[in-house]
Amino acid sequence: MTDYASLERQLTALLDTRDWLTNAAQTSAFLMQALDDLNWVGFYLQRQPETLILGPFQGLPACNPIPFSKGVCGAAARSRQTQRVDDVHAVPDHIACDAASRSELVVPIVVGEHLWGVLDIDSPLPARFSREDQAGIERLCRVFGAASDLANSPAT
Ligand code: SME
Repeated sequence: MTDYASLERQLTALLDTRDWLTNAAQTSAFLMQALDDLNWVGFYLQRQPETLILGPFQGLPACNPIPFSKGVCGAAARSRQTQRVDDVHAVPDHIACDAASRSELVVPIVVGEHLWGVLDIDSPLPARFSREDQAGIERLCRVFGAASDLANSPAT
């Protein structure tokens, strides 16, 4: 099992600036190294109304932009609820950026009343993400949010 408490301490130590861009790049690289069986990790930012714009990521070049009305990322942005999908092929409007992706976790990042963006994590394994992974990755997103000056980022 993944030791998310340890990952939380490591990420807290890694994010030693308030700059959201640096921290988003570091967080995506950290998660790609720290978690097994991932093929894509990255941020999409709401830099235009109801639209997710590709931010720092690890993996293959990805789809951009993604409207709030589409895909798993769009569902996370609309609902402001984490989306944990065991089989992306079962999601009719799933946006297949990397054909290898089989399961996915998308965590919304909210600042005050504003949906700042989402963290999207894809795996080539079906049902890669358990409820414990969801809770752990949500905690890591809170570390990212607390470390970064998101309210003053150009993404808002
Ligand atoms: N699969 C996502 C699109 C983003 S890529 O996976 C990087 C979705 O359906 O929202």
